[in-house]
Amino acid sequence: MKKLAIITGGSKGLGKALVESYLAEGYYVVSISRSNSALVHERLTHFTFDLAQHYAVRITIEALFRNLFSPQTSQYEFITLIHNAATLGEIKPLRLQAANDESLVETISINLTSPMLINARFLRHTAAFSCPKNIFHISSGAATKPYYAWTAYCSTKAGIEMMVKTLALENAKDKNLKIVSVNPGVIDADMQAKIRKASVKDFPIVARFLELKKNHELANPTILAKKLLLIEKENAFQSGETIRLQS
Ligand SMILES: NC(=O)c1ccc[n+]([C@@H]2O[C@H](COP(=O)([O-])OP(=O)(O)OC[C@H]3O[C@@H](n4cnc5c(N)ncnc54)[C@H](OP(=O)(O)O)[C@@H]3O)[C@@H](O)[C@H]2O)c1
Repeated sequence: MKKLAIITGGSKGLGKALVESYLAEGYYVVSISRSNSALVHERLTHFTFDLAQHYAVRITIEALFRNLFSPQTSQYEFITLIHNAATLGEIKPLRLQAANDESLVETISINLTSPMLINARFLRHTAAFSCPKNIFHISSGAATKPYYAWTAYCSTKAGIEMMVKTLALENAKDKNLKIVSVNPGVIDADMQAKIRKASVKDFPIVARFLELKKNHELANPTILAKKLLLIEKENAFQSGETIRLQS
């Protein structure tokens, strides 16, 4: 019997730390991102996919899931799906963003459309499995607090939180399945580096984020990944809730 973790955005930051932590726990890990990390492991499969291409999910991710969840491979002891990949998009007020809307559409695809399409497929493929199944969605404080110049990011993270609540309701009869949001708090990863590079004109509160880094107030991704694994093991959370990794 195998434990399986499917992690989006496993090449960097929190996602990479999650890949490492689940491998250390004996899981078979499928990491989905555009680039690969240097990590090589016999239980790690890297699946190259651009989540901005939400229209390709139905073919590419469908094929991946058919392969992972075929009758021959359905003997899993535990299955975890972690939607971790996300982007801030352009850090600018909406009216000032690039007129071709490319970055805006990509941000919505990566942060919300693709996770929803992946969930639809995951739920169909694993419906008959009686092992524990957890779907974790890495959310953000920005899901509930508006930030100037982060319209697409805040809106998609809020959408993720509502998707979690709705899916928890729809799937309440499946006692083996839990679907939750995870608020990780601020993390020392590339996303923060991008925020710190924003101009005061586009992002008036950039100084607050420069201070967080200067004062060593950004959390270590490995510590957060291990915390999430521990929470999963303790299994005291409810489907539909938002788990906070830093309080
Ligand atoms: N950093 C923070 O302070 C913070 C705070 C609250 C919430 N969060 C949330 O925590 C999660 C992880 O954040 P992080 O800071 O670790 O981010 P990060 O360092 O920027 O890493 C993002 C990951 O997502 C992947 N990704 C981005 N665009 C993608 C695409 N189009 N297709 C496939 N994969 C894509 C990246 O891989 P490739 O580039 O290889 O594709 C990378 O592995 C995100 O959901 C974020 O919203 C972060």
